[in-house]
Amino acid sequence: MKINGQHYRSVWPIGEDAFGIIDQTKLPHEFATLTLRNAEAAAHAIITMQTRGAPLIGAVGAYGLALAVREDSSDEHLTKVHDMLAETRPTAINLRWALKRMRDALLNQPHDKRAALAWKEAAAIADEDVAMSEAIGKNGLKIIREIAAKKPGKTVNILTHCNAGWLATVDYGTALAPIYLAHDDGIPLHVWVDETRPRNQGASLTAFELGSHGVHHTILADNAGGHYMQAGQVDMVIVGTDRVTANGDVANKIGTYLKALAAKDNDVPFYVALPSSTIDWTLENGRDIPIEERSQDEVLKMSGRLPDGSVAMVEIAAPGSGAANPGFDVTPARLVTGLITERGTCAATPEGLRSLFPK
Ligand code: MRU
Repeated sequence: MKINGQHYRSVWPIGEDAFGIIDQTKLPHEFATLTLRNAEAAAHAIITMQTRGAPLIGAVGAYGLALAVREDSSDEHLTKVHDMLAETRPTAINLRWALKRMRDALLNQPHDKRAALAWKEAAAIADEDVAMSEAIGKNGLKIIREIAAKKPGKTVNILTHCNAGWLATVDYGTALAPIYLAHDDGIPLHVWVDETRPRNQGASLTAFELGSHGVHHTILADNAGGHYMQAGQVDMVIVGTDRVTANGDVANKIGTYLKALAAKDNDVPFYVALPSSTIDWTLENGRDIPIEERSQDEVLKMSGRLPDGSVAMVEIAAPGSGAANPGFDVTPARLVTGLITERGTCAATPEGLRSLFPK
């Protein structure tokens, strides 16, 4: 992705003793970067959502663990920091996948080699994520082309929820990667961007990304998607995911399930884009996915820019009311038209997933 003409990834190494991230809590009002120098800083960035999105927190966790190994390469320290980072957010499996991969790559290695190996492995996780996202983009582009071919010369309207673009991955994105490639391919596109309350990842992050890339888009209140589907103004839905279980159930940002129900009722294809690092082969179905419960403040308050240019948090609810704030919901596989992966698109079924990932 490019910001003001400069190419960025969402996480990048700085020498071999620090790494950089974009501070996503400042977007869309300010583009700021942070330098993280230890695993504790990485954990803090994940917990506070300075960095977020399933594939990205996997890569950030990997770099955090690599920094910890530089300080102390013992098995005990490796395991302690692995567990500490794994606890930062519960739903996205990519974080655990990346941390396990790091630990497996290091545990039986000589201690004097571990720091260099860890840095290399974290970089490999980041590079592979970029390659997977690009491949997802190409596979999703085929679907958008088919839809475009059915309405020659007319705009393809795509609805997306939350942020599954380059800010949620190392580059390109998952759900947004096909959109960027289709736009670059000259397909006339318009994206309905769910604002994605309570944290507004759609309005603040997806809209920022699409705008930076010149993709025509409109932000929607979360409740409006069904209305536009009924009106025939949505040709397809594409979302990302934090965890897909072996039967094809999909955990994604809260509100995704309602969009899938509306899509089913209106015969709108509902696609989920994911790298294979998001598949949890150990869970048979989505009922067992841990759903993150977040602070009620995210529902009761909202941050935004004031007329004087400063950014402030304001209260939006009746004083004294409490709030519930599940971060994710599970969309049953039966509502999913297809899973777009780096190896191709498959049915959201055990057989579909196994056809692309036999092992
Ligand atoms: O809570 P967040 O902002 O980390 O949630 C992110 C999402 O739900 C994304 O849709 C998901 O991680 C897919 S990212 C490519």
